Amino acid sequence: MAATLAELVLEGLRNLREAGVSHLAIDDSARSILRKWMLPADRRPHQPAPVAPSGAVAPRAAFSGNGVPTAESGVEEKLAFLRERAAAWQPARKLGTLRETMVFAVGNPHARLMLVGEAPGYDEERLQEPFVGKAGQKLNQILKAMGIAREEIYISNICKFRPAMPNQGTGNRPPSDEEIASCLPLILAEIRAIRPACIVCLGGTAAKGLLGQMGSVSSLRGRFYEVQGIPARVTYHPSYLLRNDTLGSKRAVWEDMLSVMDRLGMPISPQQANYFLAR
Ligand code: URA
Repeated sequence: MAATLAELVLEGLRNLREAGVSHLAIDDSARSILRKWMLPADRRPHQPAPVAPSGAVAPRAAFSGNGVPTAESGVEEKLAFLRERAAAWQPARKLGTLRETMVFAVGNPHARLMLVGEAPGYDEERLQEPFVGKAGQKLNQILKAMGIAREEIYISNICKFRPAMPNQGTGNRPPSDEEIASCLPLILAEIRAIRPACIVCLGGTAAKGLLGQMGSVSSLRGRFYEVQGIPARVTYHPSYLLRNDTLGSKRAVWEDMLSVMDRLGMPISPQQANYFLAR
């Protein structure tokens, strides 16, 4: 039977403990969710609906202890440390379903905007950089229309390894829930280090992992969520736009990006406001 998200998160926490992580910084809502998950079913208070973890569990221990950056360390040091940890990340390695090469992230450690995709694909694995294939080219077009240089922002993935497939050629597959959960502490630590002003989840896989939100992207778009107190928006993955090259889908992504620009306090020209409107 497929594991629930709760089981996967708890398994991820056990993996962290095994890997030597002794403390995690979590907020009150995450603490209360974890308590409920860990109580035996007969002692659990009645709950109207399961509440998703909303990205509140963060691996603080990576920044304390001997020989590792502290809370006072610079963001570059924290990211360098995380990159090194990620390369030999046991929770992901142990699954045996992800490929060897780690693709960490790219961009500005002081970025105000952070984009989170799904997982590296063939091109990204080859060049060890997120979003450098066809989806990356589409993403670059979107950024250009926003008036943002790729170098200004921070681009990462919810899963740091390319998911393996039988007879793997250039084909890619989305990461499974287990694969997402195994890498979740890394992306959460990146967010904690960078503290961007806004996060965009590119596609449903990133939304599920980071926000604990299930459902189609069309049902998740149109509002801000929060990750570690940071506003986060969900939009279609650039690959979706490659497959659905319609005015409607382009306008949908563009509307999401306009809200992000607005949230970042960026100026929006009349031309930008009117992109992809049917004439
Ligand atoms: N798709 C993703 O989600 N991430 C990448 O890095 C490339 C393609």
